[in-house]
Amino acid sequence: MSILIKNGRVVTVDSDSIADIYIEGETIEAVGKNLDCKADKVIDASGKLVMPGGIDPHVHLEMPFMGTFSSDNYESGTRAALYGGTTMVIDFILQKQGNSLQAALNEWKGRSDGNAVGDYSFHMAVTDYNNETKKEIRKMIEEEGITSFKTFMAYKGALMIDDKQMIGLMDEVKKHGGIINVHATNGDMIDYLVQKFKDEGKTAPLYHYLSQPEVTEAEASGRFTDISNYTGCPGYIVHLTCEGALNAVRNSTKRNQTVFVETCIQYLVLDASLYEKDFEGAKWVMSPPLRQKKDQETLWAGINQGLVQVVATDHCPFMWSQKLLGKDDFSKIPNGHPAVENRMELLFSEGVVKNKISLNKYVEVSSANAAKIFGMFPKKGTIAVGSDADIVIIDPNEKHTISAATHHMNVDYSAYEGWELTGKVKTVLLRGKVAIDNNNCHVEKGYGKFIKRNKVSQKL
Ligand code: URP
Ligand code: ZN
Ligand code: ZN
Repeated sequence: MSILIKNGRVVTVDSDSIADIYIEGETIEAVGKNLDCKADKVIDASGKLVMPGGIDPHVHLEMPFMGTFSSDNYESGTRAALYGGTTMVIDFILQKQGNSLQAALNEWKGRSDGNAVGDYSFHMAVTDYNNETKKEIRKMIEEEGITSFKTFMAYKGALMIDDKQMIGLMDEVKKHGGIINVHATNGDMIDYLVQKFKDEGKTAPLYHYLSQPEVTEAEASGRFTDISNYTGCPGYIVHLTCEGALNAVRNSTKRNQTVFVETCIQYLVLDASLYEKDFEGAKWVMSPPLRQKKDQETLWAGINQGLVQVVATDHCPFMWSQKLLGKDDFSKIPNGHPAVENRMELLFSEGVVKNKISLNKYVEVSSANAAKIFGMFPKKGTIAVGSDADIVIIDPNEKHTISAATHHMNVDYSAYEGWELTGKVKTVLLRGKVAIDNNNCHVEKGYGKFIKRNKVSQKL
């Protein structure tokens, strides 16, 4: 099967021009002006933007968490991602404390094999680093193509590791060419504040926010960058939200160390005033919580300064009935919110249309940088000869409204209900197949492929 995409405005990290793209099978075979190629199918992209398919490197699909499971599985989550222009996601495997990494990988394969609609990969969360786990790191990187290892500095008793384990893990991961992802918040400080509020009878979602003040994230981010510098292991801070944490990274970069930063779309466009809506605030209970407007400005600036390289989602949806588990106790509200379908359009509308970031920057933070950092570039993350034909075609002028009534994520509310956006995903290609066209999905579960990744790049 061959496809010719004609006359689109083709944008990558470092180019922007009207061009045609010729695709054969799964791969881009030619990019240029007025290509003279016969194709089985021609897509007229006049007046549209043609960009690399989005990569969301932070999602949680069917994840066991806080006594329940996130409500999108591999099928619904990757399909919803495609509807929103994201052709690949990276999910997190969680090692169970006391068990091996391999056991966790087997569990996640059991849920994902044959079920994904879009492409995917895994980060491996190491929640119990010991002599046995140490032996598994090399195999994960060299045999499984899992080159990134997630650590939690919070969620004590379930996911958190201490600094001694962090240093040991970093030494080992560095030796084999991997990278450490980190949820950088100070778990002990948070646990202290949670208990304090509960003892005072304060149970509303607002206290989730108040139990994770900016200092809890700034402190852990600084500690993490110091350990990363000490061990020489590259680091990637996930879901960074605030000025204090970004300043810690700013300081660390003076040492020319490698610390990448991911923020998430919600931290750029939503703020903590949503927690004042009584229990409805549970829709936005996530960790870290939403912050202040001044933090949004810091994050947009951080993107333009090159300090923030990736805009992800931390997509971790829960049905309203699941959120109600914390009706009388904010610490029991499952943490997370749905966004994998909304990220590309929200970032385009709030970022590009409102002139906060350029189109090239949009491609960088929504796709290319994740591909580079996590060892997939140029197979993923660009439009170039030889790359996978993962392409999103956006009408930059079409207006539309976000609603749970029309989204494809398996969750019965939207965190962005009623938001009016400019710029709509029209067509999405995944490895040379038209996956989405005019709001219909044309690929089945099982089409999505596990993408083995290479060792990470130290610099972009
Ligand atoms: O609230 C969140 N972020 N839920 C998912 C787990 C995590 O910490 O990333
Ligand atoms: Zn996290
Ligand atoms: Zn997460």
